[in-house]
Amino acid sequence: MSYYTINDLEHYFKMYKKSVREPRKFWDRIADENFVWYQKWEKVFDVDMQEAKFKWFVDAKVNITKNCIDRHLARKGEKTAIIFEPNNPDEEAQHISYNELYKRVSKMANVLREQGVKKGDRVCIYLPMIPDLAVAVLACARIGAIHSVVFAGFSAGALEARVNDCGAKMVITSDGGYRGDKTINLKGIVDEAMPKCPSIEKVLVAKRTNSDVPMQEGRDFWLQPLLDKALDNSVAEIMDSEDPLFILYTSGSTGKPKGMLHTTGGYMVYTAYTFKNVFNYQDEDIFWCTADIGWITGHSYILYGPLLNGATTVLFEGVPSYPDFSRFWEVIEKHKVTQFYTAPTAIRSLSKESLEYVQKFPLRSLKVIGSVGEPINEEAWHWYNDHVGGKRCPLVDTWWQTETGGIMISPIPFVTPTKPTYASLPLPGIQPVLMDELRNEIEGNQVTGSLCIKFPWPSIARTIWGDHQRYKETYFTAFPGKYFTGDGALRDEVGYYRITGRVDDVVIVSGHNLGTAPIEDAINEHPAVAESAIVGFPHDIKGNALYGFIILKEIGEGRDRANVAKEINQLISDQIGPIAKLDKIQFVSGLPKTRSGKIMRRILRKIAEGDFSNFGDTSTLLNPEIIDQIKNERV
Ligand code: WTA
Repeated sequence: MSYYTINDLEHYFKMYKKSVREPRKFWDRIADENFVWYQKWEKVFDVDMQEAKFKWFVDAKVNITKNCIDRHLARKGEKTAIIFEPNNPDEEAQHISYNELYKRVSKMANVLREQGVKKGDRVCIYLPMIPDLAVAVLACARIGAIHSVVFAGFSAGALEARVNDCGAKMVITSDGGYRGDKTINLKGIVDEAMPKCPSIEKVLVAKRTNSDVPMQEGRDFWLQPLLDKALDNSVAEIMDSEDPLFILYTSGSTGKPKGMLHTTGGYMVYTAYTFKNVFNYQDEDIFWCTADIGWITGHSYILYGPLLNGATTVLFEGVPSYPDFSRFWEVIEKHKVTQFYTAPTAIRSLSKESLEYVQKFPLRSLKVIGSVGEPINEEAWHWYNDHVGGKRCPLVDTWWQTETGGIMISPIPFVTPTKPTYASLPLPGIQPVLMDELRNEIEGNQVTGSLCIKFPWPSIARTIWGDHQRYKETYFTAFPGKYFTGDGALRDEVGYYRITGRVDDVVIVSGHNLGTAPIEDAINEHPAVAESAIVGFPHDIKGNALYGFIILKEIGEGRDRANVAKEINQLISDQIGPIAKLDKIQFVSGLPKTRSGKIMRRILRKIAEGDFSNFGDTSTLLNPEIIDQIKNERV
């Protein structure tokens, strides 16, 4: 019986039981049979859910790029590893074979080494969705440098905060990037951030837009001439299974972004295993995940998961609306994509456009379609299922997080019957539980609660870079001994899970996690602002949008509230990124606060939603009269 590939429902249940009863045996076998290791482990895992300490494949030695690239060369050297589909459909697509990928990654690895990057150094990658991005990520992994990819839509402020938090030595960027009809001046943003990033020694610059960008002598280097001189083969660094692979930042409900640290062995095993099963990957498939590599979805399911399985993965530079709303469907047709993995926000926005855009294309190559990043509402689920999946492709609604490294709860196509809006059943090795307010585990079905995971899995994040205490407090103290996800969920009559949304102060806007605290911090820097509170409210396309309640001081002469509102959004855009802009701004004279001074966000959320029916218990409020006032002036 195969451990790696799940064939039918009975097999799934069997594997699931095995993974719970004998987790060591289960993961030992998967890790042993499907990867190349320099040295095997002493112990499958060594874990402590109280102290949040996790080791998987203890003392094993491995390099993930050996598994992503080298081991495929003998049989699949000429197979396409990456299909690069440019932003502009008139520009030719590129097919990068495994042989070529080996050479490009080797050259880049050699350049990094020559430029002084060593094992354990942090390298910040701030690139658009071009092959150099994939190559840079893999080259870091090849030499044991820790990559920290920063999404190219983030502003200089966000880049600076991330670079400084991890103390990166180098930034890899490009002269610019294309996104739809826009050109983004990435090098300009890097130049703005660099004076405040003392740890950066060098900036390597790839060419994409051929824009004329200033280069600072001694700090900035064009990448291509360095690559041209480098050797096209390289020795992979021998890594311990627990050596860091990457840091990826995610928003917290308070304070600065959290640098989630993932390590090598466990992440490798889990992303490969989940890719294989959740997408029913077969040898000839063409897999396309539309996420950006700047997010975890891109790390695990554009790069590592597919390459570990020797798959062909599509790297798409563009956006779903350029040059028109049929772009996604045209790309599926063009490259005969077999698995398509995207986000509900994209589906919702495309479903608002004429059906002709999608109906022009038969999409017969598709086999499995997937969704990730936020709850998919019923209407979007059906539109996706009917018009993209043609009612014949299983729709896998995959729930997971930056912190989990890989997919946790999801149907397995052709195995698990799907149910609209349900992520359905946990994958083998994953033990979800629902908890009530009294921290008790809720047994039985048809129940709702806070979603926790009660046993570790190979790709659980190991820590928050530089702040293990915060890691412990954020994820392991609300429900001692369990990993708390921050999400609420319900379990239906047959045990299927449906994720209902965040239960903390993170709002998911168009699939991007945004902590409200950092946005409030940005707003509060405006000289006219006294205090602010941000909440999410439902939005047709974005899933959620942001509503700001803001108390003003003096506005200043000759200016009005409209000016201030504009400046506030500009400030947010500069410090965090345009995705965090507020859809609605209401200036208020006070905020509902408890006697201990805490803002009662629950009430603000209800007002933002336009639901005035029941504000719940307001007896602890210091200023209950403010509610009516805010309600009456809602925008
Ligand atoms: C949400 C993205 C409902 C959830 C991989 C989670 C989802 C957060 C789903 C993590 C889904 C992700 N259904 N909600 N299928 N997938 N989420 O870290 O709130 O960017 O906690 O990882 O997205 O977002 P992150």
